[in-house]
Amino acid sequence: MALQQRDLQIQGYERVIEAIDEERGLHTIIALHDTRRGPALGGTRIYPYHTRDEALTDVLRLAQGMTYKSAISGTPTGGGKSVILANPKTDKTQDLLEAFGEVVESLKGKYICAEDVGSSVEDMEVIHRTTSHVVGLPGFGKTGDPSRFTAYGVYMSILATAQRLWGTHDLSGKTIAIQGLGHVGTKLAEHLFWAGARLVLSDLDMLKAESIGKLYSATLIEPENILYHPCDILAPCAMGAILNEDSIPRLRCQAVVGAANNQLATPKDHKRLQDSSILYAPDFLVNAGGLITVCGELTPQGCNPVTARTQVASIYDTLLAIYDLSKKENISPDQAAHRIADQRLEAAISV
Ligand code: NAI
Repeated sequence: MALQQRDLQIQGYERVIEAIDEERGLHTIIALHDTRRGPALGGTRIYPYHTRDEALTDVLRLAQGMTYKSAISGTPTGGGKSVILANPKTDKTQDLLEAFGEVVESLKGKYICAEDVGSSVEDMEVIHRTTSHVVGLPGFGKTGDPSRFTAYGVYMSILATAQRLWGTHDLSGKTIAIQGLGHVGTKLAEHLFWAGARLVLSDLDMLKAESIGKLYSATLIEPENILYHPCDILAPCAMGAILNEDSIPRLRCQAVVGAANNQLATPKDHKRLQDSSILYAPDFLVNAGGLITVCGELTPQGCNPVTARTQVASIYDTLLAIYDLSKKENISPDQAAHRIADQRLEAAISV
């Protein structure tokens, strides 16, 4: 048989499977971290990992992150993720994606896939040929690219953070620096512009930064300096692990609120930020707008953008509650968010 699948025994994970189909070019690992609150939902990352161990580490970390993201944002889903070891520019074929869909289908709905780095709405349509357990599809009652909802959730999180810092969510005249002008960063820039913020922008592609910068009279900063540019709020919307032992002492902002997944390089970094008096909005809540929205596709009536907008807007109240708990208990917002998520996981209830 062409498609070969085996279970990996990983402590702390409900199920991890690795599947290889040499003929169709598929090598995938799917991790189901926690399904107490519902089926594991998480994106399919297609990435040219250097080694299989690197891919395994990534999928385990991301699946666990999805458990906390689901719990803190109150979606009826659990944590899971999949990675495909391939270069999305050169190796991604319809055969590969169909083979991947067969693996997802074999999990009988315990895992639901969606877009992620390296995979697109069009890819989800191909995967959908061989499995029904996929969200982020185009069409009526579906979400398509969820990044507009993710960006709106980041914007609401910035407003909540402003409220906490300055007692008002008026952003006029506040300087906000965005690292990364992709799907989320670009849409966030537009929200912030209309809210009166002064924008500082950066992307690896500085031509893109220039053309977006012109739209909003933004200041442009080279990628290597954006994290350290003086601003009121820093919004990382590119890669993870950017908040670390080296970068944190050099930050010149009052708060960090952005879309990037896994911004803290190590579990110690939330404390480093707290000790530096920098308010850190937990990324797994800030960037949950996309997840909240695609979950609408799982309901009988499908995704309704108006309902999704209201649900994503509630990130504002959730974040304020986290800031309150953090202040009351003298813990970091990241610890407060994990505490609430853990309680929900223990209770295994959807709220
Ligand atoms: P994207 O791939 O569309 O955009 C990322 C942008 O960041 C690209 O333009 C890239 O050139 C730029 N970039 C990369 N490294 C950089 C650096 N060192 N300095 C400046 N710019 C840099 O990604 P997308 O969809 O906008 O997502 C952004 C982040 O948010 C990612 O970490 C993603 O995992 C996370 N996220 C995205 C969601 C979504 O709905 N798209 C949902 C939840 C999280």
